[in-house]
Amino acid sequence: MLNIAIDGPSGAGKSTIAKEIAKRLNIIYLDTGAMYRAIGLKAVRLGIDTNDRDGVLTFLDNTEIKIEYNDGVQVIYLDGENVSSAIREHHISKAASNVSKIPEVRLKLVAMQRDIASKNNVILDGRDITSYVLKDANYKFYLTATPEERAKRRYKELIEKGQDVQYDKVLADINDRDYNDTHRDFAPLTLTEDSVYIDSTDLEIEQAIDKILSYIK
Ligand code: DC
Repeated sequence: MLNIAIDGPSGAGKSTIAKEIAKRLNIIYLDTGAMYRAIGLKAVRLGIDTNDRDGVLTFLDNTEIKIEYNDGVQVIYLDGENVSSAIREHHISKAASNVSKIPEVRLKLVAMQRDIASKNNVILDGRDITSYVLKDANYKFYLTATPEERAKRRYKELIEKGQDVQYDKVLADINDRDYNDTHRDFAPLTLTEDSVYIDSTDLEIEQAIDKILSYIK
C-alpha cells in the first residue's frame, strides 16, 4: 500500500494540500484531526471538561467513530450522526487538542488510522503520523508556516464560512494549540529526521503541492 504522511502545526495548509494530492494520485485522504475533533465535540455536547481524562473515559468506549468517502470526500460519523460540519466550529479546535492529550483517546484513534492505512493507498495528515502512527510510511513530510501566516489563513477561512472571529483571538488560539500539541506526553508533534521539511509561509498552495509531488514521483 502507498502511505504518505504529513504532519505539522494547525493551519499550515496540510488538509488543503493533502486533499488535492489525493485527488491527483487517485488515493484516499484521511484527515486524522477530524477524529480528535469528533471526540472533542462529544465531550462538549455532554458538558464534560475536555481536560478531564476520567470524564472523557466515561464515554470513550461507547463512542463510535466511522469514516466514509462520498465522491472521494471524507465524511465522519459520530455515533451514527454525520458531524463533518459540526466539528469545524472554531471552539471545537481547542476541545480536540485537549482530548488528544489523553492516551486512551489516541490509542483508539491510532488503531483505526493504522487499519485504514494497511488496507488503502492513503495520504494522512495529523500531528503524530510520521513519528508514531506510520513510522514506516513511504513518504513523510513536515509542513509548517509562521504562526502569523497560519492565523491569517485560518481567520480568512473562518470568516468565509460565516463564523464570527477576531484575528488576534485566532492567533492566540494557534499559539495555544501549538504549545498543547508539541508539549503533550504521548506522541507530541515533532519533526522526525526522515521527514521532508517544507515551510509554506511564502508558498502558494500550488507550489507546496508541486514540491511534495516532486518527491513522490
Ligand atoms: O488538524 P486539526 O486542527 O483538525 O486537529 C485538531 C486537533 O487534534 C489538534 O490540535 C491536535 C489533535 N490531533 C492530534 O493530536 N493528532 C493527530 N494526528 C491529528 C490531530
